[in-house]
Amino acid sequence: MEPQLAAVVLAAGLGSRMRSERAKVLHEIAGRALLARALEPIASLAPAPIVVVVGYQAEAVEAAARAALPQAGMRFARQAEQRGTGDAARTALDAIGPDFGGEILIGCGDMPLIAAATLGAFVRAHRAAGAALSFISAEPDDPAAYGRVVRDASGAVAAIVEARDATPATLALGEINAGVYLAEAALLRAAIGELRADNAQHEYYLTDIVAIARRRGVRIHAWRAPAAAEFAGVNSREEMARMEESIRQNINRRLMAAGVTLIDPATAYIAPEAEIGRDAVIGPNVRILGRSRIGAGVVIEGTAWLDGVVVGERSRLKICVRAENCEIGPDCEIGPFANLREGTALEGHNRIGNFVETKKARLGRGSKASHLSYLGDAIIGRETNIGCGVITVNYDGYDKHVTKIGDRCMVGCDTQLIAPVTVGDDVYVASGTTIVRDVAAGALVVSQHPQREKPGWTAAWRDRHANHPKAQKHDAGE
Ligand code: UD1
Ligand code: CA
Repeated sequence: MEPQLAAVVLAAGLGSRMRSERAKVLHEIAGRALLARALEPIASLAPAPIVVVVGYQAEAVEAAARAALPQAGMRFARQAEQRGTGDAARTALDAIGPDFGGEILIGCGDMPLIAAATLGAFVRAHRAAGAALSFISAEPDDPAAYGRVVRDASGAVAAIVEARDATPATLALGEINAGVYLAEAALLRAAIGELRADNAQHEYYLTDIVAIARRRGVRIHAWRAPAAAEFAGVNSREEMARMEESIRQNINRRLMAAGVTLIDPATAYIAPEAEIGRDAVIGPNVRILGRSRIGAGVVIEGTAWLDGVVVGERSRLKICVRAENCEIGPDCEIGPFANLREGTALEGHNRIGNFVETKKARLGRGSKASHLSYLGDAIIGRETNIGCGVITVNYDGYDKHVTKIGDRCMVGCDTQLIAPVTVGDDVYVASGTTIVRDVAAGALVVSQHPQREKPGWTAAWRDRHANHPKAQKHDAGE
């Protein structure tokens, strides 16, 4: 039987090299917090419990972890003072408890690129090697500030030495510690108990468990990562921007290989979890975030910001569309300059034109709002035309109210609907109407003031202003 697996994610540090008011793990990479990206592959192994070590901005980091994995049973361990990765791991062991007898996987909250499959392979390799302690090693092009893996003459792992504590000869070693460990719980407890802070940073280094395990004569396995890039940690804004760029390039390459046209891949910012169908065309300067799903043949002309948006097949988003947590059905035409806020649902064949804002608005198939409207908390039927400048008056200063409009209506320009109000099917609303009461199906509704006319009024008005400094501009012949 496979041993029980628990996981620890270290996320208590401030990340001082970020020079930020915000904890490092809360910074976003490809539209999602570093911590969320680091937690997902670990959660895919279904460890129990997952302990996240928090400290700096603990509440905010805990909230981000919960938001990232709402289902997973997570525990939080507070590290009172950031005294090093070894001290952080000790805090987590306390949260796991002394009775846990399985294996403990330890990773860092600042490593957003690790693939779930890689972690799975690491766990299997550890078990296959019969090791008591394993860690992931890599040989990146630039070993930089990573801890170096020191081996003895026989090639066996002897220790991990932090760059700051390393001699030039050790610094010259190309094999580094990726920062992911797997150990028997009993060994980990014992080794962490032996940690000392006698190093350059006066911290408890988790990495010292390797030398301790060696002294104890247990089997140590350094598992060589197939792709070093997966274990890049983020320590500064520059590293973050570089990582963002490399993620973006990978995503864009994958999308283009799958049949998506990117007019300018350098300005297509697409989240890893977004899906884009074949023959979709993504114009310049487009961000597609979250679990957005863009259907086949969709055209996004350019300059768009979409987060959590489903777009049906063949729909066209003209220049400048912002849409968040909403559904756009197939064969729609949106924009230019449209703002589709959360809860907007367009059934299909809809048109939302320039300077239209929607929020929690449902439009049935074929309905249109082509110009200058606000549709909030609105349920609109099929084949209804919302004229220019129509406003749902949904807010009374305390509550939001719903406007319902039926099928096949013609809502005239400059109409206000004072919610809550219901307009039946096949209603004609004369332009300029203020609807305050429900309207029966099939009716014409008019609330305009009667038109009055005063013949010759303009000439009289101008005469009265004959000596006004601006009077000459109305003079005939100019
Ligand atoms: C660590 C390793 C290094 C490895 C590198 C891989 C140690 C001593 N060094 O260095 O060998 O090559 O990761 O990326 O472990 N943290 C806490 N509490 C603390 C200190 C840190 O929770 O008191 C957390 C941080 O929030 C971070 C993680 O531990 O998520 C790693 O800490 P960091 O300071 O980034 O370690 P590195 O210097 O990168
Ligand atoms: Ca780090």
